[in-house]
Amino acid sequence: MEENKKTLYSAVQPTNNLTIGNYIGAITNFVQLQEEYNCVYAIANMHAITVRQNPAELRQRTLALLALYIACGVDPEKCILYLQSHVPCHAELAWVLNTFTYVGEMERMTQFKDKSARHADNINMGLMDYPVLMAADILLYQADYVPVGEDQRQHLEITRDIATRFNNAYSPTFTVPQGIFRKVGAKINDLQEPTKKMSKSGENPNGAIFLSDDKDTIMRKFKRAITDSDGEIRYDPVSKPGVSNLLSIYSVFSGKSIDEAVLEFQGKGYGEFKLAVGETVASKLMPIQAEQAKLLANKDYLNQVLISGAQRANAIARKTLSKVYKKIGFYQV
Ligand code: TRP
Repeated sequence: MEENKKTLYSAVQPTNNLTIGNYIGAITNFVQLQEEYNCVYAIANMHAITVRQNPAELRQRTLALLALYIACGVDPEKCILYLQSHVPCHAELAWVLNTFTYVGEMERMTQFKDKSARHADNINMGLMDYPVLMAADILLYQADYVPVGEDQRQHLEITRDIATRFNNAYSPTFTVPQGIFRKVGAKINDLQEPTKKMSKSGENPNGAIFLSDDKDTIMRKFKRAITDSDGEIRYDPVSKPGVSNLLSIYSVFSGKSIDEAVLEFQGKGYGEFKLAVGETVASKLMPIQAEQAKLLANKDYLNQVLISGAQRANAIARKTLSKVYKKIGFYQV
């Protein structure tokens, strides 16, 4: 890691298919950030098991996510790219941090409450402890910055609280990280319910474009996207959420501004507009999918990336953990 650069940490869970919202919000961002920071990117499989997973699928999705990161341009030479379960320090630090975290705080986490409602048959301790494991992830690498979605804001706040609490109880040990939250402008909403964020768990499967969707599926979903009845293509998220969302998607995928996009489609019909948005998104995703497939066919290479990532991650994480163990009075030989 370069001395003069700040450290940036983020992770994605290898669970459900990623949507174009995740792609824009997380992965393309990760690629840009790798130039400016020492980046550490994890595949958070330990977080994933807080809801029940199919083991074969979890394994497959882990490799698929790794290949996707690389296909999108995350460079395993420039960044540390690794699998969370390959670095035992995460579980070890989480245990220590548990003793600096109050049960009441965890019970109040909105994501815990949401997930408890959705998985009422499996409200396990891991689900409740999820934010502490996330704090351990971040603090192990002394991260200065953590780019995440708005939905992770509360988890970042608690990470800062836990770090500060520990630092105050002993002496400065952890860097207190700062969140980098995505600009509102790039928010991508559901194609069927355009006032809601596009997500893998939306009600209507046609509402989300997945990174794994083939071209026909992408075109079909855009054709069916909800618009409105006034027939005019202009940006007005309040009264025209559907059209505005399509304009946003077009803007990010084409690299043009919203104003340029509006001008381009002036006087055109919704049908033509939707096709153009679909084409633009598909032409971006197709080469990524091809590259991802190529990487997935080369498992030796992917394994090598994981082994090297784990070694580099482990060296940093061990150092922090050893400091923590010393401060709390764990006898080390
Ligand atoms: N909880 C994050 C999410 O679901 C994933 C994650 C795990 C994470 N550990 C992290 C993100 C550490 C940032 C930093 O999106």
